[in-house]
Amino acid sequence: MTSPEKSIHAGVMGWPVAHSRSPLLHGFWLKQYRIDGDYAALAVTPEDFPQMFAELPGRGFSGVNITVPHKQAAFDAIIAAGGVVSETARRLGAVNTVIFHEDSSVEGDNTDAFGFMENLKEKAPQWNPDGTVTVLGAGGAVRAVCAGLLEAGVTEIRLVNRSEEKAHELARMFGPSVIPVSWDERETSLADISLLVNGTSLGMSGSPPLELSLDPLPKTAVVYDIVYAPLETPLLRTAKICGNPTVDGLGMLIHQARPAFEAWFGVLPEVTPELREILEADIRKGETT
Ligand code: ATR
Repeated sequence: MTSPEKSIHAGVMGWPVAHSRSPLLHGFWLKQYRIDGDYAALAVTPEDFPQMFAELPGRGFSGVNITVPHKQAAFDAIIAAGGVVSETARRLGAVNTVIFHEDSSVEGDNTDAFGFMENLKEKAPQWNPDGTVTVLGAGGAVRAVCAGLLEAGVTEIRLVNRSEEKAHELARMFGPSVIPVSWDERETSLADISLLVNGTSLGMSGSPPLELSLDPLPKTAVVYDIVYAPLETPLLRTAKICGNPTVDGLGMLIHQARPAFEAWFGVLPEVTPELREILEADIRKGETT
């Protein structure tokens, strides 16, 4: 139970969670808006998740973010507890934001699609949803990407994934606007598109690079990599050399956090250059240590 006079507690549950930038992000906003609250990193194994999750309201938490690998388990836990999940969370079968209300009810939302789209609108305002989009990957993050794009009005998503079955699964989930394309066809899928999204882990620190020639890609197409460590992935570097507009993944992380912060702490926080600089510095530090 919390009241306006009491300090507000929130955090992020994940396994592992040490790499999460959410405590830095929410900590920055708590200081900026002079809010009496805190935001903790909660390392919780999948086995311990249901019990730890159920104990949070009793420990004074107003809510939590949920990260890998618990997003689906959080969805299941909220449903089992008779809580409410948003339409987006239900569509994705995954929750990344939980609110524990004072009347003991629990609410789950998924703000990843919102974060993806807000970052795109901020960094590439010229992009419009009329064109065709190619998305690489078919994991949890790509589900949110597809939901955001379809909600924005995109009518054709070429979904390219190494395991074709997963791409077909997403096509069944989202309907005929999502067209599965084989991994070998990833370069030809770039012709005539207005947006390319990398939603795979390729290009991330510690992962192999994404091997993709951008020759077939129109020069006006926006290239968006949801990987944010490194900030400039080899894909984004190549896109810049080709003259394509680019969007990095850090803004998606920042924007998905804003509705959660508002729900717990009562302020919809701004995205300022200072916040970006602090996060960028932390990511660069991670690259060298
Ligand atoms: P998340 O939930 O963060 O999206 P994920 O579910 O592990 O993470 O998804 C990772 C994505 O990167 C998947 O689309 C994966 O392809 P598969 O579905 O074939 O596994 C993709 N990926 C990872 N390593 C890859 C590689 N070496 N080549 C091609 N795709 C790769």
